[in-house]
Amino acid sequence: MDDNWIRVCEQRELAVGERRVVEGPDVDILVVNADGVILAVADECSHQELPISEGPLDGDIITCPWHNAEFCLRDGEALSAPAYEPIDCYDVRVENDTIFVAKTPRDS
Ligand code: FES
Repeated sequence: MDDNWIRVCEQRELAVGERRVVEGPDVDILVVNADGVILAVADECSHQELPISEGPLDGDIITCPWHNAEFCLRDGEALSAPAYEPIDCYDVRVENDTIFVAKTPRDS
């Protein structure tokens, strides 16, 4: 594993519906087990740049706890006001049962 990846946790430590936040080089990164698929997005709402990681999760949708904008964790799209811009998404890898997330966002 090269320097472009951040270790998140063991796969068994992230059950369905659970989340972790890891420190990225620019912003914190939220990693979620969404119905068995590991997804990662910037922990920063596109509305007022506040963290979204404490918000309610419903499968692959997270609701920002500040003003209730919803985001799709698969593509970062803003699904409801007051956010209109997407949030960054990050690639995830699983190697030897350990989850890693990319340090830099995926090209959208
Ligand atoms: S900061 Fe997320 S909806 Fe306002």
